[in-house]
Amino acid sequence: MTGGNAVVAGPSKTQETNDNHKNSEMTDTVRVVFTPSGRRGEFPVGTPVLTAARKLGVDIDSVCGGRGICGRCKVDPGIGAFAKHGITTDETALSGRTAGETRYAAKRGKLEGGRRLSCQATLQADAVIDVPAESQVHRQVVRKRADERVLDVDPQVKLHYVEVREPDMHDPSGDFRRLAEALASEWDLSGVRPHPAILPGLQIALRKGKWAVTAAVKDGAEVIAVWPGFKDKAYGLAVDVGSTTIAAHLTDLESGAVVAASGAMNPQIRFGEDLMSRVSYSMMNPGGAVEMTAAVREALSQLAADTAAEAGIAPEDILSAVVVGNPVMHHLVLGIDPVELGGAPFALALDEALEIDARTLDWRIAPGASVYVLPCIAGHVGADAAAVALAEAPHKAEEMTLIVDVGTNAEIILGNRHRLLAASSPTGPAFEGAQISSGQRAAPGAIERVRIDPETLEPKFKVIGSDLWSDEDDFAEETRKIGITGICGSGIIEVLAEMFLARLMTEDGVIDGTKGSATDRIVADGRTFSYVLHRPANDADPEIRVTQNDIRAIQLAKAALYAGARLLMDRMETDTVEKVVLAGAFGSHIEPKYAMVLGMIPDCPLDKVIAAGNAAGTGARMALVNKQARAEIEDVVRRIEKVETAVEPAFQAHFVEAMALPHKTADYPNLARAVRLPPKGAATRMPDDATGGRRRRRRAAG
Ligand code: FES
Repeated sequence: MTGGNAVVAGPSKTQETNDNHKNSEMTDTVRVVFTPSGRRGEFPVGTPVLTAARKLGVDIDSVCGGRGICGRCKVDPGIGAFAKHGITTDETALSGRTAGETRYAAKRGKLEGGRRLSCQATLQADAVIDVPAESQVHRQVVRKRADERVLDVDPQVKLHYVEVREPDMHDPSGDFRRLAEALASEWDLSGVRPHPAILPGLQIALRKGKWAVTAAVKDGAEVIAVWPGFKDKAYGLAVDVGSTTIAAHLTDLESGAVVAASGAMNPQIRFGEDLMSRVSYSMMNPGGAVEMTAAVREALSQLAADTAAEAGIAPEDILSAVVVGNPVMHHLVLGIDPVELGGAPFALALDEALEIDARTLDWRIAPGASVYVLPCIAGHVGADAAAVALAEAPHKAEEMTLIVDVGTNAEIILGNRHRLLAASSPTGPAFEGAQISSGQRAAPGAIERVRIDPETLEPKFKVIGSDLWSDEDDFAEETRKIGITGICGSGIIEVLAEMFLARLMTEDGVIDGTKGSATDRIVADGRTFSYVLHRPANDADPEIRVTQNDIRAIQLAKAALYAGARLLMDRMETDTVEKVVLAGAFGSHIEPKYAMVLGMIPDCPLDKVIAAGNAAGTGARMALVNKQARAEIEDVVRRIEKVETAVEPAFQAHFVEAMALPHKTADYPNLARAVRLPPKGAATRMPDDATGGRRRRRRAAG
């Protein structure tokens, strides 16, 4: 038995000693095969199934140490002929229902479908025993996407139920010493030490539990919580601190399942909308960083309280937490002034992972809980990107993978198992709807999907909050309440791509004014033109149009994103990528085809462009429920080569070339097979504006 490595390891030593005593009186042996592992062996009649499993190295869970309390050790005895194993069994293969099982069923619910407690049932004849997934310590959480990593569960904190020797006048010793003795003798956890936070409640818990307690032990070495009696659930909180929103997932540490989730606006928004304005706030206001730290820490405690309430537990039951975030958020959570991240050379205070006491962060969870903070990769590539890398695992793949997490700063990782590079690109907030005349956040009423008929040049669209297209019956009725209020990031990308495919816009991003003769949707707007996407039925609602300035804002953002990726491809000496992962909330709403039509990303087989959703949150959960994942990402981050786009002369050249749609020079053969791209080099129809565009490009690039 290796109590230190199992969530809660198998039978306690006490039980094994008893078993050995019983076994010494037995002579007949029986054969047993465990599935799905296929492990097999011979044991004396009367051996508890759990003991046999442990001896064969079969993975079966336990919290109570084989006392018939926790129900974690359930197994399914097979009945019938198992030709493959050469065993035929019936109900007599195991002992009849034991007193322990009857007690368990009365207290904690029936054992359904012939299930048995393996710590109680004993082997009586040849047996085939199936260990269901939920009874395995190292269980895996089912993945949602075919290529998504399986979440292996092997948390840092595990629960152990023990019976502690009572104090004795003749043998004076402290209560913790006797608790430690019990953990050593029953679970092989020798030399455990107490977290100082448990000491005020230790004596109360031991006496309330009548000397039977459940201890939460971290890394098999430190007791971080003690409850009276038996407790079988351990929880952790994985938090992704974004500049705009903070997302928290309360997770069952033993099953890996999310039991409650909550999101909140980052309260730091009142100090500045985007990252740089928060860094400026800190520079301009003495004590500003302290204020922002206090605000985000209060939000972390509130999220812990909210998710705990949703799951019906106390925040103090949260024994472990993981935090990821971009470098500025990372620093502010840790109480570090982010001022150095505001300018070259963008030095991080810390580029390693960190494990600290929750109390240091004023986090109102278990007083003995620790917080693991993933490492930042570079000054502009944060712990959130590290979490994305952990979740997407390019370091384990052969194919050349490009991962982009689009925000005000795009975080970009390129590589495979041989080599990894990372950079960030200053995309600005245009993709989030800022700087766009009708732009808004993704919220009900925002246009998120757009199609333009290439013949009639008429658009149709969908808004968030309705499943109908705008040309369908009932659309007007359905959207009357939510309204049609603006365009969100995915909507602006689709409308621009569709305008380009319908030739309403040239490859230089100029709205073609001559198309005004073919459609009344093209309207003059000063010296340039706009495309009217939505004309409201009444004057109270806004008209939604795409202006020339909107297009420029998106061109600048997408050129920055592409140039960052291209720079990494240069370093990697590759002209192609085999897989593109779009991470982040925004990435999960973009249709890959449109991202490619705009040239946000390099050409790639379309079915290899994947929206990874909240990959940073997934990575945070992986680090929460699997301590090996922490070692893995720390190793990967150490190996990632950091590229600073700001000092690379090639970045500007790539940026200028990437202003065109999809790109001035790069070919898009995979995309060309999926859509009819307008031929390259189509004449620019608005020379005045094109000149202005070039001027702006030079400014932006230089
Ligand atoms: Fe706890 Fe069997 S090990 S019930």
